[in-house]
Amino acid sequence: MSSSEPPVAIDDVAIVDALPAAVVVIDDHGTIIRANPRACEVLDRPTLLGLSIHAVLGPWPLPPLAEPLRAERNVVRPDGTPRTVGLAASPIPGGGMVIVFQDLARWQRLRDERDRLMRLAMVGEALPTILHELKNPLAALIAAGEILIEDTAPGAVQDQLHAILGEARRLRLGLDGIGSVGRALASPRYQVIDQACREAFKVLELRANRAGIATRCDVRDLPLLPLEAAVVRAMVFNLVNNAIHACSAGAAINLHARLVEDGRWFELTVVDTGAGMTHDVLARCTELFYSTKRNGSGIGLAVVRQAVVDAGGRLDVESVPGFGTGITARIPVAPAARPAA
Ligand SMILES: Nc1ncnc2c1ncn2[C@@H]1O[C@H](COP(=O)(O)OP(=O)(O)OP(=O)(O)O)[C@@H](O)[C@H]1O
Ligand SMILES: [Mg+2]
Repeated sequence: MSSSEPPVAIDDVAIVDALPAAVVVIDDHGTIIRANPRACEVLDRPTLLGLSIHAVLGPWPLPPLAEPLRAERNVVRPDGTPRTVGLAASPIPGGGMVIVFQDLARWQRLRDERDRLMRLAMVGEALPTILHELKNPLAALIAAGEILIEDTAPGAVQDQLHAILGEARRLRLGLDGIGSVGRALASPRYQVIDQACREAFKVLELRANRAGIATRCDVRDLPLLPLEAAVVRAMVFNLVNNAIHACSAGAAINLHARLVEDGRWFELTVVDTGAGMTHDVLARCTELFYSTKRNGSGIGLAVVRQAVVDAGGRLDVESVPGFGTGITARIPVAPAARPAA
């Protein structure tokens, strides 16, 4: 448009109606005399005309603390859904007020997510120290327990000591599991993986057997593998722990670990004849924070899957409701220069 052309006349009403913010105008008695479509949409009402402002936006007038007047209000829409709105009000010379407001639900969600992530980050930062503080005395306890067992004659006391030691080892594995979050499964150092699988299984086996669940550990002798033993222990721990939760007395849990495809892949499978998963649970079970358990965190399978995928492998989950579940991790292990165990 050249400067010589007259400006196009735009109706003020059309401008207010086109605003992305919600706008209402009230008279000196607090009655709404003008409202744009966005205001009706945020408050979920077909019309706002004639309503009193405190009926839709809470107590009015606002305390005269700032200019323009600002406030954050929790309003309840006619269908009962709550909304947090941020509003600013300015007096109109000659009488009445214009109030501009917006739905803060999205900002609220972002704020909540930010706070959650900050809390997680704080926990993450403190975690290595906490683990260290817990693991050292635990290692001392386990060592002392092992010596005591050797010095004790078979019988009731030794059985109790075995039970205490079993729980202490389970705790150590649990802590290993926490500590291995974010640690790589692939390792430049060749480690004893068959032993790691058997150890982790043995600790949980006791608990499973006590609950009447049969167990079988089918782990072949393996050469040293370029995998992090602590992460493998945590994987077995998570998978078998889940299997125990899914099983009741009379069910069975089997662990298989072996090399396949000419020794190029390490395969770890946990099969249970427990409750199985529905189609929906199966589709979401490896999602972070997805859990169907009352006290579950939904971290176990997500961490296992991430570790396997990061190592270039894949995690397959098969499950039939009422029949059981089989979870297999396949991880490539470099074939070259693999020393014997
Ligand atoms: N062997 C299984 N049999 C049946 N359902 C399973 C099995 N393993 C996992 N699930 C389902 O997948 C969900 C996610 O498992 P995941 O291990 O990630 O979390 P969780 O066990 O609920 O909690 P946690 O983080 O404490 O392990 C479980 O809540 C459960 O519904
Ligand atoms: Mg779990």
